[in-house]
Amino acid sequence: MTDDTTGQRRGSEIIGAGYYQPSKVLTNHDLEEMVDTNDEWIRQRTGIRERRIASPEETVPMMATAAARDALANARIDASAIDLIVVATVTSEQRSPNTAGRVAQDLQAPSPVAIDINVACSGYIHALAIADQAIKAGTATTALVIASEKLSAVTDWTDRSTCILVADAAAAFVIRRSSRPGISAVTWGTEPDLADAVVIEPPTNTFSQDGKSVFKWAISEAAGYAAKSVTNAGYRMDELGGLFSHQANLRIIEPLARQLGMADKIVATDVVTSGNTSAASIPLAFAKMWQAGELPEDTPFLLFAFGGGFAYAGLVARTPRS
Ligand code: UT7
Repeated sequence: MTDDTTGQRRGSEIIGAGYYQPSKVLTNHDLEEMVDTNDEWIRQRTGIRERRIASPEETVPMMATAAARDALANARIDASAIDLIVVATVTSEQRSPNTAGRVAQDLQAPSPVAIDINVACSGYIHALAIADQAIKAGTATTALVIASEKLSAVTDWTDRSTCILVADAAAAFVIRRSSRPGISAVTWGTEPDLADAVVIEPPTNTFSQDGKSVFKWAISEAAGYAAKSVTNAGYRMDELGGLFSHQANLRIIEPLARQLGMADKIVATDVVTSGNTSAASIPLAFAKMWQAGELPEDTPFLLFAFGGGFAYAGLVARTPRS
């Protein structure tokens, strides 16, 4: 890579993807022992079969750093190349230093810019767009874009309407300046009328949502914004390899894929074994499938998320090329 990628030629591409999931598995049958629920209800209403739950030692920065290391190994580059770290999280334990700063410290990256952003479920797409724009602007060259979420720590484990959904994980991409951009323009925004539909708020600081309102919005509005994301990115739907949408509920993911005409393409359904990991859900599904060899190289995919805020964001990103 030379330093002459200027103006319109400047952009970024994904060169590696990694993830971290706690080893503790919580099944639907385990939840039957905790609250008044059952495996059949959870599978029918959400598609979730099991999820991973972090231990006290598995903190948001710890999982973020582990995912970052995995992404660096996957990209085959050293932390010394990183000059920007952006972490999407809505569950960090510590306000300052931020999680990105802790990751920089743990990786011993040399003085990178370190930013946390809090946009809940769509946070990772926001983070990816911000990192891409920093690279386009010439203020960074190589970025770690991470999401790390410990939703189990902000969950009321006696509330069956939320505790069956949540899970913990981290995931990361390494993106690098490129004269052949692989990350498109972003389409993003908020729906202020739904601002209170997904909250983590005092006094308990636990997660709660108006599931029905979110579900209704997802079924009636999400496809329009997702389609706009593809158009604004300069792609046609039939050029895409598939869909990575926010992993909250299979009853939302599958209709969205059908509405977009993508049901026959690769559609991420990691929610089934990973639950809802907020900002981490899309890069987690992507990194797992990428490392398992389940995604074609150099192929554009729609990444689209919505949730707390109430915010949404979508862009098209190409898988790494060899
Ligand atoms: O990630 C942030 C964005 N969030 C989302 O995308 C979530 C969108 N919403 C959803 O995915 C769904 O609304 C949920 C999965 C959260 C809930 O599914 P639902 O089909 O909307 O169920 P509901 O809340 O309407 O509840 C139906 C029934 C109720 O009983 P009644 O009133 O019909 O007698 C609930 O009390 O199911 C009951 N219920 C349960 N039953 C067994 C609620 N939770 C449970 C449970 N087990 N865990």
